[in-house]
Amino acid sequence: MNGLANRELVLNSVLVTGANRGLGLGIVHHLLEQQQASPRFIFATCRCADEQSAKELRNLAEHHASLLVVEMDITDRASVERAVRVVDEAVGEEGLNLLVNNAGTLQTGSLGSLSADSMLQCYHTNAVAPAILTEAFLPLLNRAADFNVKLPMGCQKAAVVNVSSEAGSISSVPGNFHISKVYPYRASKAALNMLIRCLAEELKEQGILCVALHPGWVRTRMGGSRAQIGIEESITGILGVMACLTEKDNGSFLDWRGQTVPW
Ligand SMILES: NC(=O)c1ccc[n+]([C@@H]2O[C@H](COP(=O)([O-])OP(=O)(O)OC[C@H]3O[C@@H](n4cnc5c(N)ncnc54)[C@H](OP(=O)(O)O)[C@@H]3O)[C@@H](O)[C@H]2O)c1
Repeated sequence: MNGLANRELVLNSVLVTGANRGLGLGIVHHLLEQQQASPRFIFATCRCADEQSAKELRNLAEHHASLLVVEMDITDRASVERAVRVVDEAVGEEGLNLLVNNAGTLQTGSLGSLSADSMLQCYHTNAVAPAILTEAFLPLLNRAADFNVKLPMGCQKAAVVNVSSEAGSISSVPGNFHISKVYPYRASKAALNMLIRCLAEELKEQGILCVALHPGWVRTRMGGSRAQIGIEESITGILGVMACLTEKDNGSFLDWRGQTVPW
């Protein structure tokens, strides 16, 4: 992909999960600051909108009418369904263009210290929840695809982007395993990758594009202070990649530079 840095993501509506901090909050900041056009609706979800953890997001929403803070615990179906209703009411017949499954959790653990609870919690948040969430928002994505039927496949029409990780790449294990073993996280992101391959196959007929993105090793609470890149570099990259996605990228696994990550 060429010229990613200058590409802006122009679309009507987007929903980003886990938007109160880290990469999710970074995506929201960047979308609000776009020069060309900011989305008409930015749904930024967080678990507890009233709490200190969402203060920055709430402050942003006070200054931007396009930013709607939606409370959603992605592992709680009732909470997901409430969020769908809020988004449905706002977007109307135009539907939801882009669902960014960004929220995630890092549970560590390797042989000798594995716990079923942490494996299951990681799997629930990182793989099960994005599946349930995508299913719940599918009618709104379908509506966007129908509304924009003349547009080619892409985020402007209708798309699902799963924020995955190179740690979930099975073929990269020999190269990066000893840097960070994190069995629960790796297994959950590998499952998330399979999810996007299945979705891509199933939803292409409806014109909905599905892609997995690795944001790089980024200095967030999850990535830690020793990570390779800052939020700014990661977000500029992943938004540029999202803006350039076309039909040929459906079902692919790309990093923040637009390079293919091996499954
Ligand atoms: N940072 C990296 O180096 C890196 C590398 C590869 C991939 N990633 C992926 O990038 C995504 C974002 O990571 P990050 O670095 O921004 O992590 P982060 O700073 O730890 O943020 C994680 C976000 O996910 C939310 N979240 C967790 N469980 C949730 C749940 N059950 N319901 C709703 N929200 C939930 C958190 O909300 P609370 O504040 O409520 O906990 C928070 O907003 C993740 O999917 C991660 O796996 C990150």
